[in-house]
Amino acid sequence: MYNIQKLNKISPVINDIFTENYNCGDDIVNPEGILLRSFKMADYEVGDRLLAIARAGAGVNNIPLDVMSEKGVVVFNTPGANANAVKELVVCGMLLASRDIIGGNKWVNTLEEDVAKATEKGKGNFAGSEISGKTLGIIGLGAIGILVAEACVALGLNVLGYDPYLSENNKRKLDKSIKLVNLDTIYEESDFITIHVPLLDSTKNMINADTLNKCKKGVVILNMARGGLVNVCDIKNAITSGKVKKYVVDFPTEDVLNVEGIIAFPHLGASTDEAEDNCAVMAANQLIDYIENGNIVNSVNFPCVSKEWNTNFRTCIITNGNISDQIDVGGLKMSCVRGDYGYIIIDTKEAVTIDMNDSILRVRYLTK
Ligand code: MLT
Repeated sequence: MYNIQKLNKISPVINDIFTENYNCGDDIVNPEGILLRSFKMADYEVGDRLLAIARAGAGVNNIPLDVMSEKGVVVFNTPGANANAVKELVVCGMLLASRDIIGGNKWVNTLEEDVAKATEKGKGNFAGSEISGKTLGIIGLGAIGILVAEACVALGLNVLGYDPYLSENNKRKLDKSIKLVNLDTIYEESDFITIHVPLLDSTKNMINADTLNKCKKGVVILNMARGGLVNVCDIKNAITSGKVKKYVVDFPTEDVLNVEGIIAFPHLGASTDEAEDNCAVMAANQLIDYIENGNIVNSVNFPCVSKEWNTNFRTCIITNGNISDQIDVGGLKMSCVRGDYGYIIIDTKEAVTIDMNDSILRVRYLTK
C-alpha cells in the first residue's frame, strides 16, 4: 500500500487512477507521494518515506527543488496540461485591455430606468479598439506560448515570438506567419506583450523600467505566468507616464489592486474544469509510474528515464553526479544525468545488491 498526500484540492478524477494499492488523502503522515497545486512547500517538513512530489500545473516555484534533489525526491510537473486554459485567459485579457468591458458592465448595472435609452446614450464612454491587425509579442514559446501564438494568428494579429530554448517540435507547430525575433524587437514592435516563462533568478523582474522604456507607447503587458516576472513599481510608473496602457496580471498582490490601468485576476489561468482534470490525471499517472516502475517522465529536477519492464527485478538509483559506469551488475542498464544528479535503471533477472557510496542518494528495488 502506498500513501499519497494531497496538499491542495485536486480534481476527483484521480480517485479512478489511484487503485486499491493507494491510500490518497489530505491527512496522510509520511507519504511516499505528494500531490499539490500552489501550496508553498518552502518551510514544509517532509518525511523520510517521500519518493516524489507531483505538481498539478506547470510552475514549481512553490517547491524547494534544491532541498528535494539533495534528498533524492523526484519533482514532477504537468507541462501543457493546462495550456489551453491559460491561452484562453490571455485572449480574454487582451480583449479586456482593449475594450472597457469591465467598466461598461459596472456602469450598466447602475442604471435604474429606461435602461435601453440610457445605454445608447452612455455607451460611448466605454468604446475601445480591436485586437485584429495589432502586433503581439510572445516571450516564451513553450506549451502555452505556442497555443497563444496560434490563437492570435487566427484572430488576425501579427505575432512575434522570442524563445532561446524553442524546441524543434514547437518550432514545427508554429504558423509560417509567426516571426521569431530577439527580445528587443519584441519590446520595440509589440502592441501587446505576453510572458510565458518560469520565474527564475534570471527572469525575475524581467519587465522593468529599462525594458518598458524600449516599448511602444500604449503597450499592454499580460502576465499569466508569475507575479515576480514584472516589477510592479516600474509598471505603475509606466502606466502613469502613458507608456503602458494596461497591465493584466493573474497573480495579484496588495500593490496591484484597485490601480487604474491594472486588471488583476485571482490566479484563474488554470482554473477550468478541463485543465484541473488534465493536470490531476497527468500528475497522478507520473507519480504512479515512478513509484511502481521507477520511470521518470516530466521531472523538473532529475533526468527523464523511462524503460519497459523486461525482467523480474529492477533497481533504481538516484546519484549525486554521473556514476553510472561504476555501477555494473550485468543487467540491462539505462541511465541519464541532469546537472548535478544522475538516475540509473537496471533490469536484471535476479535481485542485485549495490555497494553504497557517498554519491548514491537513494536505491529502490522493485519486482514484478
Ligand atoms: C501553473 O503553474 O500551471 C498554475 O499556477 C497552475 C495552478 O493554478 O495550480
